Amino acid sequence: MGAIEIMSESSLERMRLVCQLAADTLLMVGDQIRPGITTDDINTLVHDYTLANDAIPSPLNYKGYPKSVCTSVNEVVCHGIPGNRTLQDGDIVNVDVTSYLPKRDGFHGDTSATFYVGEPSDEAKHVVEVSRRCIELGIAEVSPGKRLGDIGAAIQEHAEAQGCSVVRDYVGHGIGREFHMAPQVPHYGKRGTGKRLKAGMVFTIEPMINVGHYECRVLGDDWTVVTADGSWSAQFEHTIVVTAGGCEVLTARKALLKNSEDKSWAQLGPLACPAAE
Ligand code: MF3
Ligand code: CO
Ligand code: CO
Repeated sequence: MGAIEIMSESSLERMRLVCQLAADTLLMVGDQIRPGITTDDINTLVHDYTLANDAIPSPLNYKGYPKSVCTSVNEVVCHGIPGNRTLQDGDIVNVDVTSYLPKRDGFHGDTSATFYVGEPSDEAKHVVEVSRRCIELGIAEVSPGKRLGDIGAAIQEHAEAQGCSVVRDYVGHGIGREFHMAPQVPHYGKRGTGKRLKAGMVFTIEPMINVGHYECRVLGDDWTVVTADGSWSAQFEHTIVVTAGGCEVLTARKALLKNSEDKSWAQLGPLACPAAE
C-alpha cells in the first residue's frame, strides 16, 4: 500500500454521510437482535435498509464475498458469512456494516459492534467489554503527530492486562473511495513507531480481541476466520478522521445500541475526541 490520502473537506462531507448511514444501520440491527433470529435475517435487514437509503452494501461481491454484511458469532473472529445459523441465548455476534454511497463521488463507511444475544456468560461479557474499551483507548491516541504504533500499543496493553489477546492477522485500514486503502492499522505494537498521523487521514480502528490465543485460521469457505483454539472473540470498529485537535469518529452513533452495554462517548459523540482518561 502506498501514500496515505489527506481528505479534502468536500470529501469528508461525503464520508460523514456514508459513515452515519453505516452507524444508523448498526442501530437498526441492534433493535432486532434476539434469540431465534438467523444471521441471514441480519443480512436481509442490512441489505434492505442500505438499498432503501440509496446506498450499496460494500461487502456484496467484494472479492467474491457472497453477502451484504459480516456476522461473526462466538469463536468467529471476523468475516462470518450470514446463513441459516439461529442465534441462541448466550451467543455474541459481531455485525460488521460497510456502506457505499455512490452518488457523485462514491465513498465507503465501515463500522461494527458486538451484540449480546440474550444473557451473556461472564466470559462473553469480559471479552466484549475488553474489546469495547480497546477501541476507546485506540481512538483516544489519535491526533496529529502521534504514530500508528501508539494506537496499537494502547490497545495491546489493555487487552493483555485483562488476560485477552489481540489478533495479528487482520488490521484496521485506510478507507474512502476504496473499501481498503493505505495505511494498515495494527491493533498491537510499540509506542513511537509507525507512520505519523496527519490531519485529514481517514482510517478504521477495529481491534479483534480473543479470550485465548491470538492465532486464527480460515474455514473452507475461504472467508470465515475463527480462533485457532476455539476461544471466543469480540470486535468493535469505527471509521475515524484525524483532525487538527484530535480526531472525529465519523461512525459515532446518535443513540445507544440495544443488546450491547453501550454507554461510552465513542458511541454517542460529540464527535470531537476527548483526551485519554
Ligand atoms: N468490514 C470488514 C472490515 O472491517 C471487511 C469485510 S470484507 C468482506 O474491513 F468481504 F468480508 F465483506
Ligand atoms: Co468492517
Ligand atoms: Co474495516
